[in-house]
Amino acid sequence: MCGIVGYVGQPGAVDREYYALDVVLEGLRRLEYRGYDSAGVAVVAEGAVEHRKKAGKVAALDAELEASPLPHSILGIGHTRWATHGGPTDPNAHPHVVDNGRLAVVHNGIIENFSELRSELSQKGYNFVSDTDTEVAATLLADHYNKDAARDLTVAMRLTSQRLEGAFTLLAVHADHEDRIVAARRNSPLVIGLGEHENFLGSDVSGFIDYTKQAVEMGNDQIVTITAEGYEITDFEGNRAEGRPFEVKWDAAAAEKGGFSSFMDKEIHDQPAAVRDTLLGRLDEKGRLSLDEVHIDESVLRSVDKIVVIACGTAAYAGQVARYAIEHWCRIPTEVELAHEFRYRDPIVNEKTLVVALSQSGETMDTLMAIRHAREQGAKVVAICNTNGSSIPRESDASLYTHAGPEIAVASTKAFLAQITAAYLLGLYLAQLRGNMYADEIADVLDELQKMPEKIQEVIDAEEQVKKLGTDMSTSSSVLFLGRHVGFPVALEGALKLKEIAYIHAEGFAAGELKHGPIALIEEGQPVFVIVPSPRGRDSLHSKVVSNIQEIRARGAITIVIAEEGDESVKDYANHVITVPQAPTLLQPLLATVPLQVFACALAGAKGYDVDQPRNLAKSVTVE
Ligand code: AGP
Repeated sequence: MCGIVGYVGQPGAVDREYYALDVVLEGLRRLEYRGYDSAGVAVVAEGAVEHRKKAGKVAALDAELEASPLPHSILGIGHTRWATHGGPTDPNAHPHVVDNGRLAVVHNGIIENFSELRSELSQKGYNFVSDTDTEVAATLLADHYNKDAARDLTVAMRLTSQRLEGAFTLLAVHADHEDRIVAARRNSPLVIGLGEHENFLGSDVSGFIDYTKQAVEMGNDQIVTITAEGYEITDFEGNRAEGRPFEVKWDAAAAEKGGFSSFMDKEIHDQPAAVRDTLLGRLDEKGRLSLDEVHIDESVLRSVDKIVVIACGTAAYAGQVARYAIEHWCRIPTEVELAHEFRYRDPIVNEKTLVVALSQSGETMDTLMAIRHAREQGAKVVAICNTNGSSIPRESDASLYTHAGPEIAVASTKAFLAQITAAYLLGLYLAQLRGNMYADEIADVLDELQKMPEKIQEVIDAEEQVKKLGTDMSTSSSVLFLGRHVGFPVALEGALKLKEIAYIHAEGFAAGELKHGPIALIEEGQPVFVIVPSPRGRDSLHSKVVSNIQEIRARGAITIVIAEEGDESVKDYANHVITVPQAPTLLQPLLATVPLQVFACALAGAKGYDVDQPRNLAKSVTVE
């Protein structure tokens, strides 16, 4: 997620020891934790907009400002960009300056209809210098500003917001108005900071917490105009609206985590947005899947006779979940390979093989080496990645980016759900292209996917029960996880979370495997999580797992059962029941995983461990 800061001070205020640029840069530094790959600032002074922007970190921007200083100003905006549309380059960095250099805009989010707006504006004679959806939004704003808003920046922002689809926070300053910032938000964060004869904007309170703790929360689909003396909020139709004032209770360090106890906790809570944003902008105007980053010739995709998913760790488990769906929808044999094993088993790979590389960081050396090997054998590679411009998508034939935003905690959570979501989109796209599924069947799955963010939120809202289990079981020396079908990789992922942050033995099994050995592990008091498939799915799946619960309960296990609401069949054999909302069988992993993440985070926290930076681990394993 990008970081945004805005500041408007009092003209002629001489008692301040800082200018707009100082405030904005300080705010961007506070927002660095959010992860980003470019940064920029713009100020308005003496009737002109001046800006500087650079790929890389704020330090690179500082150097740019050192070499080419900006004038003192009491009005400024700043941005740290996490690349989504368009790689991390200087031209793609924000602010985007348009209207003959007189209007500067920064943006957080994804404009779903930017390509149609871009062609509409091109026909009006506008040219573009970047690949970004932001430049399109800025150009549309300039067009309204000069045409039908009578140079009223607030009206122009309102008319623009009415045209934009998707998620966005926009901040705009114009050379004509040295006293104000106008901003809009839809499904993307923005908060107002209130000072004495100065006011602030931020993507979160970290952006201005060094200057004020008095803030105002805005609602969705709203526009705010801030000056040094105040602010005014309206909805997208121009009706006055009220914000919700609040006082920031966090210190700066807590603010960086959005008030959560850890980045991992924050990122677990980011998951509804991660899935929602990964789904954004994937349909064309006819409602058909259009994955504009999958640039592999359709005839090649039609000829694919094998899919190999290559990944490591959590990403590999995401691949294992996706495999069930891809095979079911596309009827293409699909294997999942651990990257570090793949090339050493002398795999059978050729030009009819489609390799899907799953990676949050895009820098995992095992995965990178594996795709190089696959490409040498003639395979086409699609990278599903969370980091725009990283090595793995760069070395692939096509990419499909997840939009989970930067994942800071070493233990992957929101990237896992976003990877599953993106892999499902790829599977549906292949099924659409190859005619394995009717359009209405694909639409039905997409409708169910669109409901998942809200259902994930429901699971998160009920987390206290799971957190208590984590603290109550913090002395456990071993926890087992059972699942069947898509629940099996979820069990593996639940075990990995516990291993990597709580440092206790944990193991995931296919529930059907119990009687072939692992049931010997069951003894009195052994905690076992069981992910139960929907009773509305394949009946045999559900009844077999319920039998598994009986078998382990009879041998003294403490059964913690994850089951969908309304499933009464598990109650007699479960010591604890964690219910998740009803969902189609193939989508249940997006829900059942969340309690396992919360459990691991709570148990490790109860042991006093640093869940964000666990021992021995790195966020990205860039060595083989
Ligand atoms: C997951 O919690 C771990 N941090 C680790 O297994 C990770 O998923 C794996 O190293 C792959 O990383 P990548 O997704 O960045 O390629």
